Amino acid sequence: MNDVIQILKKYSESIDNEINESLSTISPQALRDSSIHLISAGGKKLRPSLVVLSCEAVGGKPDYSFKTASAMELIHTFSLIHDDIMDKDDMRRGEPSVHVLWGEPMAILAGDTLFSKAFETVLRTEIEESFHKRINETLAVVVDSCIKICEGQACDMSFEGNFDVKESEYMNMIYKKTGALIAASTKAGAIMGGGTSEQVDALFEYGKLIGLAFQIQDDYLDVVSDEESIGKPVGSDIVEGKMTLMVVKALAEASEDDKDTLITILKENNPQRVDEAIAIFNKYGSIQYAHDIALSNVKKAKELLNILDDSEAKNALILIADFVLQRQH
Ligand code: IPE
Ligand code: IPE
Ligand code: MG
Ligand code: MG
Ligand code: MG
Repeated sequence: MNDVIQILKKYSESIDNEINESLSTISPQALRDSSIHLISAGGKKLRPSLVVLSCEAVGGKPDYSFKTASAMELIHTFSLIHDDIMDKDDMRRGEPSVHVLWGEPMAILAGDTLFSKAFETVLRTEIEESFHKRINETLAVVVDSCIKICEGQACDMSFEGNFDVKESEYMNMIYKKTGALIAASTKAGAIMGGGTSEQVDALFEYGKLIGLAFQIQDDYLDVVSDEESIGKPVGSDIVEGKMTLMVVKALAEASEDDKDTLITILKENNPQRVDEAIAIFNKYGSIQYAHDIALSNVKKAKELLNILDDSEAKNALILIADFVLQRQH
């Protein structure tokens, strides 16, 4: 796990510098400050690291993909700012959320600004003219992931209060809200690195599978972790009535009484009843079930990398797949 933290750290500073430079000209100041706030709070930099590693894993120079990597972090950060408004989460990365500090209207604009800056950043890629085709293809990948995030977030919201959600519907929702951007990161990196279509496809599938596992782990950490590690209160998904794999599974397996209790808790918005919901998850093995599904996705993801030649970048991608489930925040 320490190896992965070092790998992610390696790219972190340069990505932050790139982003800070691109945001430094935004005016007025409240929009600039609110746009920079979460970047300064510092995230794991998973998506940009995946872009650069995928580029290197197909034989490209890291410089080819640097702007695209920054763009992916910008898109990610935009989605977090808007997500915290939608989820009514007041903390992010251990700091007050953007909407808490600047209000919802400014937070919406900060998100929109980062979203737009992402496209500007890809377009600023200054490599030879022969790269124009790669840049165009990359832009199409970025656009597609943004549409999927919105679709996924809309499904996520519409699932609140819908206790008939099937496992396949949940998987489709998390693919769109989270898997799509991670898959777009590995795909775009492979495109910028000049990968063959087989390599691009394999890296896309790898990203999709670790992305699904990533969201399942995110849902799991919301239940089992502590506030200090995840940077926000534990059980916020239960309080908000979110559909997670643990909820879907528990509702499918539970006795009528336990099912009624769980539904009541999910409707209630009461932080005092989080432990009761977790006890029901445990009773029906749904926490272990979610973990097993995530683990099998990670295993399949690593197998897909077999088509790549051996390299340091390929090894890093293997380690990152495992890290998705080892991480504590
Ligand atoms: C959080 O993503 C949002 C999800 C898609 C679950 P990360 O856990 O990668 O967030 P940061 O960037 O490290 O804060
Ligand atoms: C995040 O899902 C998905 C996006 C930000 C698009 P969550 O709502 O579970 O993420 P956290 O838990 O707030 O980070
Ligand atoms: Mg959220
Ligand atoms: Mg959300
Ligand atoms: Mg979450």
